[in-house]
Amino acid sequence: MPRYRRPTGTLDILPEDQPHWDHVRNRARHLAELAGFERIDVPMFEATEVFARSIGAGTDTVDKEMYTFTDKGGHSLTLRPEFTAGVMRAFIENGLHVRPRPLKLYSVGATFRYERPQAGRYRQFAQFNAEILGEQGADADVEIMMLVWDLYAGLGFQDLAFQLNSTGCPQCKPVYVSRLEAHYAGYPDTICKDCVRRLTLSPLRVLDCKAAQCQPVIGRAPHFLDYVCEECAEHFATLRDYLDLLGREYVVNHRLVRGLDYYTKTVFEVWAAGIGAQAAVCGGGRYDGLIELLGGPPTPGVGVGVGLERIILVMKSLNVPVPPLPAPRVFLAHLGTAARREAVRLANAFRGEDLATWMSFGDRRLRSQLREAGKRSADFVVILGEDELAQGVASVKEMATGDQVEVGLVNLIGWLKSRL
Ligand code: HAM
Repeated sequence: MPRYRRPTGTLDILPEDQPHWDHVRNRARHLAELAGFERIDVPMFEATEVFARSIGAGTDTVDKEMYTFTDKGGHSLTLRPEFTAGVMRAFIENGLHVRPRPLKLYSVGATFRYERPQAGRYRQFAQFNAEILGEQGADADVEIMMLVWDLYAGLGFQDLAFQLNSTGCPQCKPVYVSRLEAHYAGYPDTICKDCVRRLTLSPLRVLDCKAAQCQPVIGRAPHFLDYVCEECAEHFATLRDYLDLLGREYVVNHRLVRGLDYYTKTVFEVWAAGIGAQAAVCGGGRYDGLIELLGGPPTPGVGVGVGLERIILVMKSLNVPVPPLPAPRVFLAHLGTAARREAVRLANAFRGEDLATWMSFGDRRLRSQLREAGKRSADFVVILGEDELAQGVASVKEMATGDQVEVGLVNLIGWLKSRL
């Protein structure tokens, strides 16, 4: 048993897993930049209030899952449970509203939630996050949705479909909420304790309840889409039209409400098999009132957060190939102290010329060094021995053919470069 173990709900991403990570991050960045998104990095922690106000008291994220601590200056800080709130804080603080609209921003990095760990659910996880600020049309919503669709499709995901719903706006939300409350008032003894609490704090969340006793009540609950105002209905219809135009599958899911309070109009998720029951590989939507709520100028917004660990789990379950780690092109083998000294010099010179070089360490037999060169998939092995050094040459072995030639040390870099 090791004396120290990683904290519950965290992962070590070992070197052999890095190709998957690089591939996913590179694809996400590439697709975002193709659509004109610019990168923004925000701190890993913010004043607790930034998250509490944005995500909303009464949500599981704020009430149960935040890593909140008081720093030595007595300030309450929280490790970011998501990107959106911090990006909005940065938008306001840096006066980004004066830039040409819309502003398209993406981020990648670690996020933290104190959740019960299980397959695909961690306490530290990585998100790719994208936001479009300053545009209220459904064309911005569809652009965000296409960004994640293209990411998943390009990574080999199959049977993709969006889960889609609308959570209205400040005009129609109260109307629907009072209908929902009236419906639930008919079942005071049936529903679970959590839903009793949700009804007072965050009523839409009752639709998301997993307790068996609540399912019949949810099944008979009114649908938000039957209560949305004209503007929200039109926005939703336009979005559906764009999705139909592009031939993207979606399911209108009347139970989809999302776990964060800032959403207005569109909400969506993509679920994927291979990670456990109904795990979302991304979730997002529109949040037209959030920037104002945080003290900024009224600015509509829409965005998405993508869980990277979950993507990688799906890719592994589908055996999606990824580009391998780059192998060293040149392996430097040496025999004897003087040769090792020359190897140190050459390794430095090769790398200075951008040649990926693995230098053998220590004092080992040539056979074992050649075996290692094979394991590391080097293209050429440069062998330095005392005799070679005395003549100012090295033996160079091409691993694919087994051919071996002598090359003058002064010409070595040029010789290797012309062949790699
Ligand atoms: P979210 O649905 O809370 O939305 O998280 C987005 C994604 O992060 C989820 O779909 C999931 O893939 C991943 N995720 C969430 N929690 C965990 C966890 N404990 N372990 C592993 N993966 C997890 C947001 O965070 C919003 N900020 C998205 C957004 C951006 N909405 C508008 N803009």
